[in-house]
Amino acid sequence: MADLTRISISLEENLLQQFDKLIEHKGYATRSEAIRDLIRDLLIRQQARHAHGDQVAVVTMVFDHHARELAAKLIDKQHHHHNLVVSSLHVHLGERHCLEVSVLRGPGHEVMHLGDELLATKGVLHGEITFTGSEGDLEKLG
Ligand code: NI
Repeated sequence: MADLTRISISLEENLLQQFDKLIEHKGYATRSEAIRDLIRDLLIRQQARHAHGDQVAVVTMVFDHHARELAAKLIDKQHHHHNLVVSSLHVHLGERHCLEVSVLRGPGHEVMHLGDELLATKGVLHGEITFTGSEGDLEKLG
C-alpha cells in the first residue's frame, strides 16, 4: 500500500453514528476504507465532468423552503443560466422540505459550475449532480 497520511476530521455525533451504522451494513471493515471509497467516487465523478463537448446532468436538491430567501435564490440562479436548464421538477416533500430536480445540458464545465453553485447555496440540505451521456456520447455507442 502507498504511504498513508493520517488525518482527523470533526463531525456531529449524530452524523457519525449514522455513518457507522451505514458502513457496518455495507460491510466496511474500517471507517478509513469507507472514506477512501467516498473520496475515490468523488474524484471519478469530477473527471466525468471534464469530458469534452456537451454534457447532460441531473441535479437533485433537498431544502427547507422556510430558509430565508433560499427558494428565490435557487430560482434566480437557474434563470441566470436558463440556457443550461432544460427542465425542473419541484416536489413538496412535507410541511417544510422541498425536493427539486433539474436537468442541465451544455458545455461540461458550465453544467458543472451551475450544479456546484446550486448545491453550495446555503440552506440546501442534501443533493448531488449526476452526469449522464449526452446525445453525442450515446450516438458513439451505436
Ligand atoms: Ni415545495
